[in-house]
Amino acid sequence: MTKLEQRLKQKTATIGIIGLGYVGLPLALAFSKAGFRVLGFDIKQKNVDLVNKGRSYIADVTSESLMAAVASKHLKATTDQSRIREVDAVCICVPTPLTKTKDPDLSYVINESETVSKYLQPGQIVVLESTTYPGTTREVMLPILERSGLKAGRDFYLAFSPERVDPGSKNFNIKNTPKLVGGIDPKSTKLAVLLYSHVADVVVPVTSPEVAEMTKVFENVFRNVNIALVNELTQLCEKIGISVWDVIDAAATKPFGYMPFYPGPGIGGHCIPLDPYYLANKAREYDFHTRFIELAANINEQMPYYVVSRIMDALNARGKSLHGARVLVLGVAYKKDVEDTRESPSLKLIQLLGEKGASVCYNDPYVANIKVSESTMTSVELTDKRLSKVDCVVIATDHTCYDYKDIAEKASFVFDTRGITRKLRNKNIIRL
Ligand SMILES: NC(=O)c1ccc[n+]([C@@H]2O[C@H](COP(=O)([O-])OP(=O)(O)OC[C@H]3O[C@@H](n4cnc5c(N)ncnc54)[C@H](O)[C@@H]3O)[C@@H](O)[C@H]2O)c1
Repeated sequence: MTKLEQRLKQKTATIGIIGLGYVGLPLALAFSKAGFRVLGFDIKQKNVDLVNKGRSYIADVTSESLMAAVASKHLKATTDQSRIREVDAVCICVPTPLTKTKDPDLSYVINESETVSKYLQPGQIVVLESTTYPGTTREVMLPILERSGLKAGRDFYLAFSPERVDPGSKNFNIKNTPKLVGGIDPKSTKLAVLLYSHVADVVVPVTSPEVAEMTKVFENVFRNVNIALVNELTQLCEKIGISVWDVIDAAATKPFGYMPFYPGPGIGGHCIPLDPYYLANKAREYDFHTRFIELAANINEQMPYYVVSRIMDALNARGKSLHGARVLVLGVAYKKDVEDTRESPSLKLIQLLGEKGASVCYNDPYVANIKVSESTMTSVELTDKRLSKVDCVVIATDHTCYDYKDIAEKASFVFDTRGITRKLRNKNIIRL
């Protein structure tokens, strides 16, 4: 048995989590709750200070649980990456964004691999959790890590294990979501399985990091493509005069061979809009075009424009023009009950409505400020007076805390992009 195996089994290992964001912070907490000593690393001093004070900045992590982990000395955060030397396992949870031209931006993964390489110790295991294209762990990370003079599979272990977290979900978390693990060799896979079996009920070993990397991207492409399909159907349903929501609800009664996806003003978050481009880009290396991905992106990216045109038509039917209309957008987070606005379609909607001359304000109980076209907007109070004064209320994010019946009664016109009002019969509501 290797020393690492022994330390993981006895929970005497120290776990290093690099990048204390939406993925890294819950993971750090999960390992500390499992009884490990966890050292969290972030380049943002502010995040490190907040963690060490037990103050959470991620909705899925409560300050109480963070405080308990810090107080019991199970969790500590630092910006000092030379302390990577002290840990037994290094889990990398840094961002994988896109460049302006929508190409993969692996700079965070590359920079961090260079840092880890400087401090890498024999016997450590390194696991990449960031979503990326197949080949990143072996083709990009491994050679950088081996610059340390240590050999992967012999002196240290290397694996990919995608994070599948569903932010804001009440039903799924790290513990009850099966965790995929693919090592660069059987020993790396075995050790990574052992590592994650302390925080996940089910750990699924796969045959290689490439399979794990491809699976994660495939899962997100699957969502992206199905959302595009239903977004396209929505546009056809509108032309025919059928409620797409009734169709989806009816289809969802089929107990096999179908799962519901819902239309909306576009897709958001750090995963679904970005990850497919990682695969599309990799595919081009092989003279291969991922047509489904490109078509889905095309349809989904057009949705904010489609919503604006529907709002414009609806106002027109009421004898009003969008130019000069007062529009209140409800919800700017990319999905309900979270505070994350990354890639949120609401931001695009607000921008487009503004460009058409509407006077736009927004309310989001989770998001105090947003930046749209270089200017900062602040969430306005949701008062009866405001609801009755505006020309249009756009439900852009279906936060559970809103009283939609009350909103529909107070507002003169509601445009619902999420179908959250589909049980209401008010005549002043138009749904996607
Ligand atoms: N947010 C999600 O729902 C989700 C779900 C599954 C997978 N992912 C993937 O996980 C990865 C991380 O996403 P996230 O949402 O947690 O991002 P995030 O931006 O919330 O967190 C990343 C953190 O890493 C820090 N960081 C950046 N470079 C660093 C470095 N060199 N050393 C130490 N810290 C560094 C940043 O300061 C930030 O705090 C991405 O690849 C993403 O695609 C995200």
